[in-house]
Amino acid sequence: MTRFNKLFYEKALGFVGQQCRPLTTKALQAFQNQLSAAYREHRSTSVLTATESVATYAAARMPATYHAIQSCYQQLPADFQPQSLLDLGAGPGTASLAALDCWQTLEQLTLVENHRLMVAFQKALWQHLNPDLSYQAVQDTIPSLGGLPHESYDLVVLAYVLGELKPQHQQEAVAQAWQKTRHYGLIVTPGTPHDFQYLLKARELLLSKGAIIVAPCTHQERCPLTGTDDWCHFSVRLQRSSLHQSAKKATLSYEDEKFSYLLFGKVAVPLNGDKGRLVRKPIRRPGHVLLDVCANGKINRHIVGKADANFKKASKTEWGAMFGETVIAICLIFFI
Ligand SMILES: C[S@@+](CC[C@H](N)C(=O)[O-])C[C@H]1O[C@@H](n2cnc3c(N)ncnc32)[C@H](O)[C@@H]1O
Repeated sequence: MTRFNKLFYEKALGFVGQQCRPLTTKALQAFQNQLSAAYREHRSTSVLTATESVATYAAARMPATYHAIQSCYQQLPADFQPQSLLDLGAGPGTASLAALDCWQTLEQLTLVENHRLMVAFQKALWQHLNPDLSYQAVQDTIPSLGGLPHESYDLVVLAYVLGELKPQHQQEAVAQAWQKTRHYGLIVTPGTPHDFQYLLKARELLLSKGAIIVAPCTHQERCPLTGTDDWCHFSVRLQRSSLHQSAKKATLSYEDEKFSYLLFGKVAVPLNGDKGRLVRKPIRRPGHVLLDVCANGKINRHIVGKADANFKKASKTEWGAMFGETVIAICLIFFI
């Protein structure tokens, strides 16, 4: 199921290509190496000290973060038609691009970013994109935001930024995202055990504030991975452009981006009852398939054999998809 086009994404990649053109392959790869080292040490923006490094960041990372964010948006109800979006820690505005490629109803975008060079790059990119809507760049620091153009937004996104904040600021940023959310909020992180711990804390805070967890959890119970070494994450495959391939010195024409996410809501959302989500890659063996499904606060392994009625369905179920009986319940929460 996809309701996306990639018009803004393709246009943005064209712009990124133009910005990287003056760089030699060697320089591009040197910037990318610095970025990778910084990522491993959780200090990614500290190496963005030149316009070229920002352009390299966009060439090397934007495709992956775009596709991860896009696959999270797919979990939102099909009838959700946002008009406004708040993109916190926007970088080049990846979450906003993915949203524009999903919803033509968007009229207002607010992109908050605190890095001077990134803001300059973002503004140039959005001037190039020239979307037919109100785009506002706010250069400010989460969570101590001075003020935003709107009181609340239909969709608020914190993508790939939580890990860049000091631990004491992460919960404040989540609370801020919750406060600014009119309908739905989304947090996306790299799919590592380290980053998953941030998401777990965010989930607890959001539940304590009355949020409805929309995805990936199909329940509002304690996460069954709390206190374990395991982590809930998913994967999305994307094609690499020649620039992307060259920046990463990659031989493959595609990459698999591992990510974790949390979609939460403030509005009535269908809860998935007994239906669960496949939280690990299915293990396909001759004659049967093993599916690890998270439902009702527990992860259970389902062994579905050829003789089972749902074998065909089970063998086609992908990591991250829903599996099981659908018992749709509507949860209505009223906010004062
Ligand atoms: C890894 S990038 C992610 C960019 C974009 N959201 C994406 O998903 O592609 C994180 C961005 O958050 C910005 N950032 C980090 N800490 C911030 C803060 N406290 N306030 C605002 N922006 C911040 C960084 O400058 C960087 O551009």
